[in-house]
Amino acid sequence: MSELRFDGQVIVVTGAGGGLGKAYALFFGSRGASVVVNDLGGSFKGEGNSTKAADVVVDEIKAAGGKAVANYDSVENGDRIIETAIQNYGRIDVLLNNAGILRDISFKNMKDQDWDLIINVHVKGSYKCARAAWPYFRKQKYGRVINTASAAGLFGSFGQCNYSAAKLAMVGFTETLAKEGAKYNIHANVIAPIAASRMTQTVMPPDILENLKPDWVVPLVAVLVHKDSDENGAIYEVGGGHIAKLRWERASGLLLKADDSYTPGAILKRWPEISNFRDADHPTGVADFMGLLEKSMKMGPNDKGETLDFKGKVALVT
Ligand code: NAI
Repeated sequence: MSELRFDGQVIVVTGAGGGLGKAYALFFGSRGASVVVNDLGGSFKGEGNSTKAADVVVDEIKAAGGKAVANYDSVENGDRIIETAIQNYGRIDVLLNNAGILRDISFKNMKDQDWDLIINVHVKGSYKCARAAWPYFRKQKYGRVINTASAAGLFGSFGQCNYSAAKLAMVGFTETLAKEGAKYNIHANVIAPIAASRMTQTVMPPDILENLKPDWVVPLVAVLVHKDSDENGAIYEVGGGHIAKLRWERASGLLLKADDSYTPGAILKRWPEISNFRDADHPTGVADFMGLLEKSMKMGPNDKGETLDFKGKVALVT
């Protein structure tokens, strides 16, 4: 079997000085890509900066015979990171929005600074990089984006209100990029990884961390950003050798007559129907809700002789 190659491709990896980003950069550098190794080089709480983190990774890629260049900007200045790709390699094909920090604190004690810093690095940073890459992607009718969410964003996590909000934002951001990019062959997918890094070393026991090497997140990302991949707008959890796709699930739900009888009491009476997932569906777009209404229309009159019109209003049929 031949290996998945990225020859001639230019890949920007943000936060590539350590953890997952470093693993991506080394991998793509070894598979023929030219890599922009971005890292601000600060602490995991977002303090300070240094050129060392990115330089070490660039040196390692070059020593192994690969092509790489460093960039030390914060992702909040994503246009400069993309500019590094254009100036050095003349193009950009893949953007891995990976840089991140933590400011864990209970919501009771959260300060604006904890909130703003997290939103700026994760949300604004990913936006700025993608926004700067977008015109190049559109022009060449090709681009691949990976955004980085987290289980904390998908499910919530104690002490991580800021981080959870930022990480779920990555899902909505990705879904819309995927829809807008599709006709230009720009694909965006989002991963919720789990890996041993300086971010997780204080919160997980060493024997678990031993089984969560960042390298084990890399192969999925490689598949998703490869030019032959059709995946677009997908969400994955990945770590420790396990890869699983996630999707939304909507209960079949409750349909009430939209008139004066539509009261809190009427809802309470049939409450279990709202969360009945037996005949659930898996919506992928805002239009799906209208589809539901159409479906209800086709169901014909209920036992009171009522049926739905297209606007969702109940009409009496005789
Ligand atoms: P890490 O702390 O090892 O790596 C993050 C890198 O981003 C660091 O090298 C840091 O210097 C860089 N960085 C931070 N702020 C930056 C900025 N403003 N501009 C440029 N670079 C910046 O952490 P790890 O674990 O590798 O995390 C990578 C991504 O994966 C993050 O987005 C994180 O939130 C996410 N993630 C990681 C999980 C894990 O289990 N390690 C779990 C869920 C999500």
